[in-house]
Amino acid sequence: MTSVQTPSSQNALERSSTYTIAEWQRGYESLNQEYSYPITEVEGEIPAGLTGTLFRNGPGRLEVNGDRLHHPFDGDGMISAVSFRDGKAWFRNRYVRTEGYLAETAAGKILYRGVFGTQKPGGWLANIFDLKLKNIANTSVLYWGNRLTALWEAGLPHELEPHTLETLGPSTLDDILKAQDAWSAHPRIDPGAPDEAPRLINFSVKSALSTQVVVYELNPQNELLQQKSFTIPGFAFIHDFVITPNYYIFFQNPVTLNPLPFVLGLRGAGQCLDFRADQPTKVWILPRGEGEVQMLETESCFVFHHANAYEAGQELVIDSICYANFPIVDPDTEFREIDFSSLPEGQLWRFHLDLAAKTVRHDVITTRCCEFPALNPQHSGRPYRFVVLATAAIASGNAPLQGLLKLDLQEQTQSMWSAAPKGFVGEPLFVAKPDAVAEDDGWILCPVYDSAHHRTDIVILNAQNLEAGPIARLHLQHHIPYGLHGCFVPDLFLAESDDAA
Ligand SMILES: [Fe+2]
Repeated sequence: MTSVQTPSSQNALERSSTYTIAEWQRGYESLNQEYSYPITEVEGEIPAGLTGTLFRNGPGRLEVNGDRLHHPFDGDGMISAVSFRDGKAWFRNRYVRTEGYLAETAAGKILYRGVFGTQKPGGWLANIFDLKLKNIANTSVLYWGNRLTALWEAGLPHELEPHTLETLGPSTLDDILKAQDAWSAHPRIDPGAPDEAPRLINFSVKSALSTQVVVYELNPQNELLQQKSFTIPGFAFIHDFVITPNYYIFFQNPVTLNPLPFVLGLRGAGQCLDFRADQPTKVWILPRGEGEVQMLETESCFVFHHANAYEAGQELVIDSICYANFPIVDPDTEFREIDFSSLPEGQLWRFHLDLAAKTVRHDVITTRCCEFPALNPQHSGRPYRFVVLATAAIASGNAPLQGLLKLDLQEQTQSMWSAAPKGFVGEPLFVAKPDAVAEDDGWILCPVYDSAHHRTDIVILNAQNLEAGPIARLHLQHHIPYGLHGCFVPDLFLAESDDAA
């Protein structure tokens, strides 16, 4: 595959300066209030056939009583829910009442160190040898088997009441997990064959000198169908994975960990990673059934997120967002003052793993800065044609995500919608229309921070025509701080007060 070309008609969108840092920064103000209301300010029309709930998670509180967190990834998880029915929509947000959230709220100060550099007040002496971390439940939210959970990769999921978003507490998923276990924030749902029930597949990682990976498969009744453990040599930073009908696939980024500055109270654990450009990225191919573990090496790159993977004869095809190195904010830099141009941009790469020849080659699908890949979930782990990504408004280099990019991976064409210069986009999600046949016959739902009004819009686009722009913009009464991941489910969760509205 050659890279997808940018139509000249889109170049008008691609100015050298598509945003101001001051406008971007305001999207990282905390949202301390918790709301519940019908969304009455709507431009365009919410599709009547769109029924269900969009759940989103992300750091909502970026400081505690005026003490700023060092990195947004250290922020407490706040769940937003947008319910759609009969062309109407309702909004609700609520913090996950984790043990740490409650303790810090009561104390009015930071009590925990964060993975990405947040320290307790008082300098290194106040942080030395304090290795306990707060389960911040801030990365994703999943509805599976009639259970809503907020996810954070280094600890247990937190179960939530789906109508009210009330926190029910950490969950072992009916004793599938133990209290000290982790549960990734990047589960995959295998849609299965047409006559099969879907499966939830998720993993946990515990890494030090070697890495223990445990993969779980659950049915829609939340029963454990399979659990497999693997050991990977060396340290591994693994945030996401991909599946196919026969494999789990993990990328072992070429990073090493020197925990000493963390132990001594000088840095967060995530700031102790050292990217090794001289070492390969290792791709671990783990069998879901019988078979040998395989490992193939490819050139050095860093991957947080994968788009999808599928089997093609003796090949595995994997599409991933690749960075030239680990895109971490300098430990001495306030994250709001980030110089985007100093960090590598994510690019969509396609890896071809030849399992017989034991070789890897890759194509760069697009060099354009992108993240948060979304596809029709019925194609997860299967061949697919369309992917939608959040993207920068400039054609090359790193910049805030301000647009949506749809790639036709078969025809090698693309289309785009831009929210620049005032809009900043979050993760898009694809929702198939009822009775859809075509893979891209659906809607894209995406939160967009509108810096002109300091509020967030939930934007709905026709996935078959992004360039036409939103078919509906739902203006919230406030902003939602830039978030991470979410899900859409066809189930409707309205509290009694919502229904009365
Ligand atoms: Fe993620």
